[in-house]
Amino acid sequence: MQPQKSVIAGLVVALAAATSLTVGASASATPTPERSSAKAATPGVPAPNRAKVARPGVRADPTLKTLRQLGDRAGLRIGAAINLDALADDATYRYLAATEFSSVTPENAMKWDAIEPRQGEYNYAPAEELIRFAKANRQIVRGHTLVWHSQVPTWVTEGNFTSAELREILRRHIRTEMSQFRGNITEWDVVNEAFNEDGTLRDSLWLQKLGPGYIEDAFRYAHSIDPKAKLFYNDYNIEGVNPKSNAVYNLLRRLRAEGVPVQGVGLQSHFDIQYNYPPDILANMQRFAALGVNVSVTEADVRMDLPVDPTKLQAQAGAYDALLSSCLLVKRCKNFTFWGISDQYSWIPGVFEGQGAALLWDDDYQTKPAYDSIRRLLAVAGSNRPKIS
Ligand code: XIL
Repeated sequence: MQPQKSVIAGLVVALAAATSLTVGASASATPTPERSSAKAATPGVPAPNRAKVARPGVRADPTLKTLRQLGDRAGLRIGAAINLDALADDATYRYLAATEFSSVTPENAMKWDAIEPRQGEYNYAPAEELIRFAKANRQIVRGHTLVWHSQVPTWVTEGNFTSAELREILRRHIRTEMSQFRGNITEWDVVNEAFNEDGTLRDSLWLQKLGPGYIEDAFRYAHSIDPKAKLFYNDYNIEGVNPKSNAVYNLLRRLRAEGVPVQGVGLQSHFDIQYNYPPDILANMQRFAALGVNVSVTEADVRMDLPVDPTKLQAQAGAYDALLSSCLLVKRCKNFTFWGISDQYSWIPGVFEGQGAALLWDDDYQTKPAYDSIRRLLAVAGSNRPKIS
C-alpha cells in the first residue's frame, strides 16, 4: 500500500525543518533556523531520498535551538571545557557557556598545580566559582583531573620523595581535592594519559615510584572518598581501535573483573583534519560500553593548519560528525564535551605551531559549519536515540 499523501507531506515538512537547521546558522552566535531556506517539495512527488531517512520521532523541532536543548532531547549532555578568566571577563563566552552546554569541565582549575601550587596551600576559588556557575545553570561538572604526569606542581616533581612518601602525597591529594568538591562532581577523570602510543605504560613519576598498581590504587582510593562520582580513565588517541586503546581496554576489563571501581572511559578526541579520523570509532566505543563502563567524549576539538578555508572547515565538520554520530549510537555515551567554546581561548595555537580554529566558534564568535552539522545530527537523533549497545 502506498503511504498516504498527508503522511508524506508531513514527512517532507519535518525534513524541511530538519534541513533548515543545517543552514542559516553560521553567521550568528544565537542562530535561528530559517525555514525559508528549505527546498519546497513538488506536490505529489515524495522526495525519495529524504522520505527514506524519515521515521516517526526523527522530526526536527525548530523550537529547539541550542546544542544543549538538542542534546537534552537526545539524552546526551553537551559539555565544554571552561576557562575561568574568560568566564569572568567575557559576557558572550559566559552566555554561550550557560545556554549551549549542560556539562562543564574546568580546563585547568582542578589540576594539581592549580589546586595546591605549594605544599599545603590550596587554591579552590576558581573551581568553586565554576561549581557555582554550573549550579546556577543546572549543569553537571566533570572533574579533571587527579592523577596525571603533567601540570603537577614542582614541589611534588622535584621533592625527591621516597616511594612511601609519594604514595602518601598522592593519596592526600586525592583525598583533599575530592572531599572539597564532593557532591558537586558527576564524573571524575581520576587517571589521565597513563599509556604510550604503543600500549605500554607511560614512564611517569607515578609509574617509576609507585609501580603499575598506582592506577587501580587511585580508583579504589577515589571511590572511598566520593562513592557517588563516576570514575573515569581518560586519554587521547584512544578513539579508534589501536595498540593504545587496546591497552586501555585490557586495563579496564581487568579492573572491572577484579571489582576495581572504574565506571567510565574518556576519549579525549583531539583531532587534526590532516589525519583521517579513525574508521572504527563506533566499534571502539561499543567494546568499551560492553565492559559496562560509560564512554564520554571529554575533550573534543578538531584543529587545522592556519589559515582557515572553507574546505578545511568542511573537513572539520566531517570529523566532528564522525565522533558524534558514533556517540549517538552508543547508549553509554552520555556526555560529549568540547575542549573550549571559542577559538580565542583554545589551547591549540599555544601547543601546535601554526594550527588552530579547532572549536565551534571562531575568534569573533561566528559559528562554523561544524556547529550546524552537529545541530543537525542532534536534531536527527531526536528523542529516538537508537540503543544498539
Ligand atoms: C590543556 C589546557 O587546555 C591548557 O590550557 C593547558 O595549558 C595544558 O592543558 N589533555 C588534557 C587536558 O587532559 O587537560 C589538556 O588541557 C589538553 C590535553
